[in-house]
Amino acid sequence: MEYKSPEVKKAAQQLKVKFKKLEDKRAILRAPELGALYDRIKTLPAGERAAFGKEVNRLKSELEQLVRQAQSFKLKALSSIDVTAPFDINVPPEQRPQLLTAENGSRHPLMTELGKILNIFAGMGFTAVESRELDDDYHMFGSLNFPKDHPARDEYDTFVTDEGLIAPAHTSIMQNRVFKTMQPPIRAVIPGRCFRNEDVDARHDHTFYQLEGVYVDKGIHAGHLIATLKTFFKKYFQKDIKVKTQPFYFPFTEPSLEFAPSCVFCDQKGCSICSHTGWIELLGCGLIHPNVLREGGIDPTKYTGFAWGVGIERLVMIKYGIEDVRHFHSGNLKFLRQFA
Ligand code: DAH
Repeated sequence: MEYKSPEVKKAAQQLKVKFKKLEDKRAILRAPELGALYDRIKTLPAGERAAFGKEVNRLKSELEQLVRQAQSFKLKALSSIDVTAPFDINVPPEQRPQLLTAENGSRHPLMTELGKILNIFAGMGFTAVESRELDDDYHMFGSLNFPKDHPARDEYDTFVTDEGLIAPAHTSIMQNRVFKTMQPPIRAVIPGRCFRNEDVDARHDHTFYQLEGVYVDKGIHAGHLIATLKTFFKKYFQKDIKVKTQPFYFPFTEPSLEFAPSCVFCDQKGCSICSHTGWIELLGCGLIHPNVLREGGIDPTKYTGFAWGVGIERLVMIKYGIEDVRHFHSGNLKFLRQFA
């Protein structure tokens, strides 16, 4: 910028040199050279004051512009701020709020227990096969000897997609696949997630886990079924228990049984968990129906077998005295930490 007045011109040059050296750029606006120019106005003859005053103001504006430029450059040079940081990055460390200590997650108790259950069955010669979470009518019903439109299907009311696929209501969906892919002797346990259109309460959830078991060989009878499950209960609950079987109905077993271990809480003295009966109704089982074996490609005149299905939540609830099945899916840390 050009100044006509030699005085202003000289001061401008001096001030710019000074400006470059200043740490605090704003100090240039308080520089004595600038103040001297303003003082000078009053001493000038009246006719010269206006023109001189204008030039001094122009110089001041030019200096203000330089200060603004220097400040915006300084802002850009600041380190970027993490707006998601849980404290103001400009607050010195000693003044920052204390962060909560980090905590590691843990396995869900259902999965920990499932691991123990599978280990027990592995020790008894059972292979683990994973179930699936979407299936068709054939595996859910047809292959399991449910005639079309049979009222027994109502027990397994579950969720169906627009395409007609089914969220499985039990792990028995895997029986036909296991029979078709494995050769007798077949010993398999099949854990999986199941779904039911259920009114949720302390004992029922719409989503839960089951463990299916199948055993097929020559000469298998109900004694093998009872001995297998009794051995499992003894190992899992770490207690000697009695078992009671009572007749039941499933289309895929004949005969069908309901299996009830003696109450591990009260040793059959009677408590609220066993409804004062001394027995806990726990699982469905039976000898595999010949139609189911045949549908799976196994000759029922040569082979027989047993099968069962048990709710994994039920087993864990009994083992630890958990009174409400909804705890498992609640995400409640107070509940989960007890098993960490
Ligand atoms: N699928 C049955 C249910 O969820 C349980 C069951 C009963 C499974 C008998 C079996 C069985 O394999 O043989 O109610």
